[in-house]
Amino acid sequence: MCGIVGYVGDGQASDILVRSLKRLEYRGYDSAGVATCYQNRLFVEKDSGKIEEINNKLGLDTLPGHVGVAHTRWATHGAPTKVNAHPHTDCTNTIAVVHNGVLENFMQLKKELTDLNHTFVSKTDTEVIPHLVEEGLRAGESVEQAFLKALRKLEGSYALAMISTSEPDKLYAARKEAPLIIGVGKGFNMVASDITALLDMTQEMVFLHDRDMAVISKDSYRIIKIDTGEGVERPVKTVAISVETAEKQGHPHFMLKEIYEQPQTLRDSLRLQQQYLDLLAELLDKGRVIFLVGAGTSYNACLAGSYQLSQLARLPSFPVIASEFIPNYGSSLGADTVVLAVSQSGETADVLTALDFARMRACTILGLTNTVGSTLTRVARAYILQNSGPEIGVAATKTFTSQVLVLAQTALRLARLRGKIAQFEMDEFKTELLKIPRIVEEVLMKTSVKVKELAKALMSKPFIFILGRGISTSTAYEGRLKIMELSYIPCIAYPAGESKHGPISVIEESVPVVFVVPPDEYRKLNIGSIMEMKARGAYAVVLGDEADSELMELADFYIGLPKTHPLLTPITYAVPFQLIAYHLAVMKGYDPDKPRNLAKSVTVL
Ligand code: G6P
Repeated sequence: MCGIVGYVGDGQASDILVRSLKRLEYRGYDSAGVATCYQNRLFVEKDSGKIEEINNKLGLDTLPGHVGVAHTRWATHGAPTKVNAHPHTDCTNTIAVVHNGVLENFMQLKKELTDLNHTFVSKTDTEVIPHLVEEGLRAGESVEQAFLKALRKLEGSYALAMISTSEPDKLYAARKEAPLIIGVGKGFNMVASDITALLDMTQEMVFLHDRDMAVISKDSYRIIKIDTGEGVERPVKTVAISVETAEKQGHPHFMLKEIYEQPQTLRDSLRLQQQYLDLLAELLDKGRVIFLVGAGTSYNACLAGSYQLSQLARLPSFPVIASEFIPNYGSSLGADTVVLAVSQSGETADVLTALDFARMRACTILGLTNTVGSTLTRVARAYILQNSGPEIGVAATKTFTSQVLVLAQTALRLARLRGKIAQFEMDEFKTELLKIPRIVEEVLMKTSVKVKELAKALMSKPFIFILGRGISTSTAYEGRLKIMELSYIPCIAYPAGESKHGPISVIEESVPVVFVVPPDEYRKLNIGSIMEMKARGAYAVVLGDEADSELMELADFYIGLPKTHPLLTPITYAVPFQLIAYHLAVMKGYDPDKPRNLAKSVTVL
């Protein structure tokens, strides 16, 4: 998500920080800023736009002083504007903070601080932090005490760096569920969210652990455990890798990095702004007809969402491919229609055209997107952000699993609002939602060898057939899209029950059929489909529960996955498909980050 850097040392901080920020550009960002401390004054410059442009306009790299913090922002709370750009400061303009992550309880903290007469200027969650520290300083605490106390009040994820004019030779840093690294130099020390920001300056690095805080000066640093306040040693490691490898966090491609990032991105997608989730649920509840509209992967998420809305909230909805929305439903729209658009970029032309049309007919437009400030966020009456961070690989991976997770949370909220399911069912589902990041971690660990073997087996096949039933139809569709767009092997995907009505005629000896068979109510029927296909010579690949020995026996190739709630299986079962697609592309010598003929965001009709 956002990139953060801090510097304290003999050099001119701003110049070094701007160079480091440029190393973070590859992550994607919408605004940037720098703060330094000099002669007991804070200097802050920031804006939306590209670093080079902002620097030319505001002279980021000319700010005076030997200590500073800097930031590239990918908006999560508040539009990508100058005022929302980091660093953020307190009322006295003596504390500056940069932050990467999502604070869950910022609304409550903001209210408490506003009641104490603090003035807020931005819409960000981050801004509560300098004010919390200011509150501690007002009460006579040292900067270190005030910082530690503020950290203990924060719920959510963060990598933070802070400077204060009260201690102008120190840099404060902390992390929870977001990476943060100290760069150890001669005559300087640095801190950054990403080793690429440090590699130019030093290869000696200290990787902070979760819930570590650090007090850094130019010749030394101390690490303190946030929970207990006790000091702790962390080893210094020599990181001798190229900037290019570092950008991909050691993975050969961005796509693989993004696949492996999913436990974290899913954790962030559980940290939604509750008031917007409520609003979305309320507006969905008011509609007489509900459409879920998206393109590509986002359409597959809509399909999964429609099963979740129906099964949890008992709300029927139409999942529609964006380019087909007007031809199919254009003439039936009205003021009682709600259109929930799902779009990672928030800029897909097919989606925006559908929304324009619907808006002209007084429909209520809702949005789910990964991009604050996108056109979708401007046309939607209410929208929710999925918090997956920028995705560089053209093929959507982490953004798909997050979309499904956000739709699941929306469905649960709606179920509660409509009183449609029993409390125990809601509680059970909530528990399963919270477990998802850990289960995906398990999936990544357990399937890494098998997916490679399978990719080898599928590599020379002329085409691949994928089947799912119920919500697993959306998994099958997403699996098809991933494999097809990355390996260029033609794939077909069908709801398993439909395969007997035509598609089965393509089956002959050794045609690969991938079955998505989670342990849900359709398992038995799926076993029937597997038999049907095997009887005609198909090579049956089955993705099923890791403890399902019957399926294992039946399959020619089996990938076992941990259990989750059936309505969340599009998340866990999509992961092996992403990996299979990735390995197929690599084995065939294609670039998985940039599949031919495709664009990340298609802004033409
Ligand atoms: C393009 C991308 C797909 C993406 C689709 C929808 O076709 O290549 O990966 O799923 O657009 O994008 P959106 O930003 O609307 O989710």
